[in-house]
Amino acid sequence: MAIERIVDTGIHDDNDDEQVIEVTLRPQRFDEYTGQERIKKNLSLAIEAASKRDEPIDHVLLYGPPGLGKTTLAMVIANEMGRNIRITAGPAIERAGDLASILTNLQDGDVLFIDEIHRLSRAVEEVLYSAMEDFKLDIVIGKGPAARSIRLDLPKFTVIGATTRTGALAAPLRDRFGHIHRLEFYTPAEIEQIITRAAAILESKIEPSAAHDLSTRARLTPRIANRLLKRVRDYADVNGDGIIDTVITTKALEMLEIDELGLDPADRQLLHSVVENYGDSPVGLNTIAALTGDEATTIEDFYEPYLMQLGFIERTPRGRRVTNKAYRHLGLGSEG
Ligand SMILES: Nc1ncnc2c1ncn2[C@@H]1O[C@H](COP(=O)(O)OP(=O)(O)OP(=O)(O)O)[C@@H](O)[C@H]1O
Ligand SMILES: [Mg+2]
Repeated sequence: MAIERIVDTGIHDDNDDEQVIEVTLRPQRFDEYTGQERIKKNLSLAIEAASKRDEPIDHVLLYGPPGLGKTTLAMVIANEMGRNIRITAGPAIERAGDLASILTNLQDGDVLFIDEIHRLSRAVEEVLYSAMEDFKLDIVIGKGPAARSIRLDLPKFTVIGATTRTGALAAPLRDRFGHIHRLEFYTPAEIEQIITRAAAILESKIEPSAAHDLSTRARLTPRIANRLLKRVRDYADVNGDGIIDTVITTKALEMLEIDELGLDPADRQLLHSVVENYGDSPVGLNTIAALTGDEATTIEDFYEPYLMQLGFIERTPRGRRVTNKAYRHLGLGSEG
C-alpha cells in the first residue's frame, strides 16, 4: 500500500522532522522512561550488581513490535551504566570483517547496540556469538594452505540487541543473551503520561481530557502517541488558538480517519477484505498480504501485533482468523 499511514508504527525514514522529534522526546533515564516496570526493575538490579563488581552487565536482547521503545531503552541502559554506546544495525554489518573492526574498536565496558539483530548474516552471527561468549575474536589470516587463525582478546563489552522478530534469531546467538525481555504494549494510562510529558517538552498546551482521549487512539505505542500529538498540535495551531482540547482532538482525528481504537483506513481495509473473502475462516499470512498488497513481514510487524492485542485477529494452527469482536467494531453482522 503506497499511502503513508499516520499510525504506521515504523519510523518514516524520509521524514527528518520526525527523527528530530524522536530524538528530542527520547527519555534518557529509567525515571523518564514510562512503563515496562518489570523490565526496568530487572535491568536496574543487574546494573547495580554489575557496577558493584565493576563489570559490564550481561548481554541484553530486547524484542517486541516497532515503536515500543527498544532503541530508547538501549540508550537508557547505557546512560544508567555510565558507559558509551556504539550503535549499529544487522544489515550494516555485511561481512565478518566489518564486525571484527567494530569489536576491536570497543573500549572496556562499552555497550554495543545492534538494531535489527535478526538481519545479521549467519557468518557474522557466528563471529558475534563467540565474541559474546568469551570476549575473544578468532580471525583467519591468509588464504589456502598458508591460512592461519589467530585469537585476539577483546575488551569486556555488553551487546544490546533489538529485534521485532525473535523467532528469526539463531538459537546459539539467542542463548548468549543473559537478559531477554519482551516489550509489552503500554496501558492507556501510561500512554497518557507519555503524551503529557511530550507536550511539555514541545511546549504545547494540552488539556488533560484531550490527553486522555488521545491515549486510547495511539495503538498503545509511544511512537504513535508522539506522532498523533504532533498532528493534533498542528491542527490546533491552524484551526484554533494552539490549545489542544477535546474538540480539537476529535476533529483532528476525524480528519486523519483514526477511529476510537486507533485503527486507520488501512487496518479497516485489511479486516474488511479478509472478512469479505474468507469470512471468519483462518487464512494464511501470505494470503492476507496478497489481499492488501503488502509484504507478509509488514503485516506481521505493523498490523498484526496491535490487531491481536485488541483481540481482533487470532492465530490458529491453520492461520489468522478475524474474531467476532472485530466484526462488531466494523459494524458487520457476526458470523460466529
Ligand atoms: N517508555 C517510554 N516512555 C516515553 N517515551 C517513549 C518510551 N518508549 C518509547 N518512547 C518514545 O517513542 C519513540 C520510539 O521509540 P523507539 O525508537 O525506542 O522504538 P523502537 O522499539 O526502537 O522501534 P523500532 O522497532 O521501529 O526500532 C522514542 O523516540 C521515544 O520518544
Ligand atoms: Mg528502534
